[in-house]
Amino acid sequence: MKKITHICCIGAGYVGGPTMSVIASQCPNIKVTVVDINQQRIDSWNDDNLDNLPIFEPGLKEIVGKARNKNLFFSTEVDKAIDEAQIIFISVNTPTKTYGKGKGQAADLKFVELCARNIAKVAKDDKIVVEKSTLPVRTASAIKSILQHTGNKVNFEILSNPEFLAEGTAIEDLLNADRVLIGGDDTPSGQEAKDTLSSIYEHWLPKERILQTNVWSSELSKLVANAFLAQRVSSINTISALCEKTDANIQEISRAIGYDSRIGSKFLNASVGFGGSCFQKDILNLVYIARSYGLTEVADYWEQVIIANDYQKSRFAEHIISSLYNTISGKKIVLYGWAFKKDTNDTRESPAIAVADALLDENAEIIVYDPKVTADRIYADLDYLGTRSSEENRKLLTVCNDPMDATKEAHAIAILTEWDEFKTYDWKSIHEQMLKPAFVFDGRRLLDKEKMDSLGFNYYKIGQS
Ligand code: NAD
Ligand code: UDX
Repeated sequence: MKKITHICCIGAGYVGGPTMSVIASQCPNIKVTVVDINQQRIDSWNDDNLDNLPIFEPGLKEIVGKARNKNLFFSTEVDKAIDEAQIIFISVNTPTKTYGKGKGQAADLKFVELCARNIAKVAKDDKIVVEKSTLPVRTASAIKSILQHTGNKVNFEILSNPEFLAEGTAIEDLLNADRVLIGGDDTPSGQEAKDTLSSIYEHWLPKERILQTNVWSSELSKLVANAFLAQRVSSINTISALCEKTDANIQEISRAIGYDSRIGSKFLNASVGFGGSCFQKDILNLVYIARSYGLTEVADYWEQVIIANDYQKSRFAEHIISSLYNTISGKKIVLYGWAFKKDTNDTRESPAIAVADALLDENAEIIVYDPKVTADRIYADLDYLGTRSSEENRKLLTVCNDPMDATKEAHAIAILTEWDEFKTYDWKSIHEQMLKPAFVFDGRRLLDKEKMDSLGFNYYKIGQS
């Protein structure tokens, strides 16, 4: 088996950064270099103040602090890192296409292709190239085709090694992964490459948790895992709507069904809707792939998960509007939380964006407080929708750094991210300084209904009448 001394990861994002930090911390004899074309991002990774890392993840700064500039390096020298490495991870973004064929559904693979071309250009010796990005099934054949036409006699083994970390728990997920999936060819050199990559993870994970498959199963498993997880959230969210009509309680239902070991208790928390960079993108991609093979029923089935999620977000916004007497123009509504889940500064596809947009359409005055998301990010998310001009977005929406100040003379608060700190607030004082009746719309089922009712709030907890 090849002795690995140098690893390169192309893409210093939410996956590349934490994943490589953990590999470096667990494999002190391997030099790990994470490269990116985004100079600002690399500068942040190299910032002396670890609070300025580009990504907020619990436990990340401690790991980076220990390994950085010892065997963990962040750099924009992409070619140099490719040249040095025996294993190259491709961990670049694969967003939904916004143009051309497959627009709005297919994954945009232009960044992945650029990486493959760059590797082909630079490599002078044999390399193991690892798909860490989430990719449509059969992408490895495209990468192989690009790499095999370099004419420089270098042998490339392409592996698929999708990442299953969830944001907010990335370090814990990496250190204690349920499983690591490695897909590759069944040829002798393919098997050797799979074993070589396995040996990296075996530095800290038991061998039984490292699964080897063929490339296509590995690529497709990633899309399917995300589709199944998102489907659970959409399933429980549709039932939350039914609970609100029938006096059933969604939490009691989650508990009752989750106790069935065949169903299991995880991912049954009703919410304002799922967000994040993966679920929607990966299901849309799955739908696109199924349709492109003529599997209409398969595509329709999975598309429904997205439709149900959109329904949940708009249902929540409509509930706010109808509760506030069908007119929110000029009313001050505070949004607690903008991130797509707690313990991350990531806002991609956050349900908060859709809810804010719907409320802004009605000319509400929106105040946003999130402990980790910057004002620039919030405005960028809204501007990206293109629903209204950026001037209008800035006129109607204010970002506030003080969660108490934000609620002065507010008509309503909507909880859109489940940040723990929201539970610790002095809700009595918040009630006193709000306009009456004071409404709280809890899209994350974070607060205690009895207590909120007793404080005098008109309190709505999603999934409960
Ligand atoms: P990201 O946008 O945070 O990071 C991607 C980085 O790649 C960016 O910094 C970008 O500048 C860089 N990049 C793009 N093209 C490049 C090139 N040619 N050379 C060098 N750098 C380049 O994305 P992410 O969230 O880290 O996701 C990366 C991949 O991992 C995606 O395919 C995603 O679906 C998958 N994934 C993400 C998560 C998650 O929780 N975010 C989890 C599992 C899998
Ligand atoms: C997901 C997958 O969990 C992870 O394995 C994959 O690698 C990337 O995509 P992530 O999007 O980071 O991870 O977070 P996740 O914890 O899955 O939450 C996704 C969204 O679903 C969040 O908006 C979250 O609030 C929501 N959610 C999750 C619910 O509304 N209810 C739940 O019970 C669980």
